[in-house]
Amino acid sequence: MKAVAVQTFGDPGGLAVVERPDPRPGPGEVVITTEAIGVGGVDALIRRGDLAAYGFEAGHVPGGEVAGVVTALGEGVDESWAGTRVWAFTGLGGGYAEQALVNAATLVPLPPGVSPVDAVTVAGSGVVAHFGLRHARFAPGESVLVRGAAGGIGVLAVQLAAHTGTVAVTTSSPERGARLRTLGATHVLDRSGAGPGGYDVVIDIVAGEELPSFFAKLNAGGRLVAVGAVAGPPPARLVAEMFAAFRKSLSFATFSADTVSTEDRRAFAGELLAATGRGEVDAVVHDVLPLAHATLAHRQLDAGEVFGRIALVPA
Ligand SMILES: NC(=O)c1ccc[n+]([C@@H]2O[C@H](COP(=O)([O-])OP(=O)(O)OC[C@H]3O[C@@H](n4cnc5c(N)ncnc54)[C@H](OP(=O)(O)O)[C@@H]3O)[C@@H](O)[C@H]2O)c1
Repeated sequence: MKAVAVQTFGDPGGLAVVERPDPRPGPGEVVITTEAIGVGGVDALIRRGDLAAYGFEAGHVPGGEVAGVVTALGEGVDESWAGTRVWAFTGLGGGYAEQALVNAATLVPLPPGVSPVDAVTVAGSGVVAHFGLRHARFAPGESVLVRGAAGGIGVLAVQLAAHTGTVAVTTSSPERGARLRTLGATHVLDRSGAGPGGYDVVIDIVAGEELPSFFAKLNAGGRLVAVGAVAGPPPARLVAEMFAAFRKSLSFATFSADTVSTEDRRAFAGELLAATGRGEVDAVVHDVLPLAHATLAHRQLDAGEVFGRIALVPA
């Protein structure tokens, strides 16, 4: 089968189409013949080599989620999955391929009206957004600031939070702000977050040097949860700035979807795909590109052009 691998870490040009053996499912696993593959900011971090500490090596095939048809079953997998069109979580890699090997426990059947491209646009990002908001104890009637709202995770966080509370966003242009308003944002701030604060929760997808300044945006008892770090890790002064605001009883936490159980992830992905099929959640698809053009997808990510999410489709 064809796959796309990171042959050299750094520039998107280090991605290349490679030939790999067709995967064979082990016990509890299935093979999915892919019809759409999600491309997220984390793939770009891996490709650049920014996550080298996690042990990625040259030849790594990126891709954390796929949708397609189950075409081979491992021992112990219910035979009714054969031929079913599904969404599945592949973890930190293996998705950029014509066939993906996944744990059968992560499979979610696609509901009517949800295309494979829609599925990989909403499901993985939605899981991070939903459980990130839950980690922040975001409650009905509260206000949230989503920092870095224009990406795959952000557009889902905005839509999910808008059901129960007030949603502000940071973004880099008025045009993006207008699009985020159509998804449920009520206040649009520039990247610095300049303007009045008063939020109960900040969901931060950006981190970087500016993260500590967002503590000042929180109400007393407020919670800032970092779910991403597209601008790199925060500076060491983070702790000093929290202590400087000691009397506001603020909380800082990180959130990784790795801490969500397979069953909870699968259950929520199923709910979200059903809501997408009913038209209650928008799949914000920036672009759909052939798998062999993964380099172009990564160039768009690096240029900051992506609003929502890119999907790759095998030829
Ligand atoms: N917690 C988890 O379990 C989990 C799972 C998967 C991924 N992640 C993390 O989530 C992040 C990727 O999420 P994503 O795909 O939604 O993000 P993304 O599309 O890569 O970026 C989100 C938005 O951040 C803004 N941005 C980019 N660089 C910025 C900067 N230097 N300063 C301020 N804003 C900036 C951009 O919007 P504007 O141009 O409009 O400002 C961009 O659209 C990665 O850090 C990844 O590791 C976390």
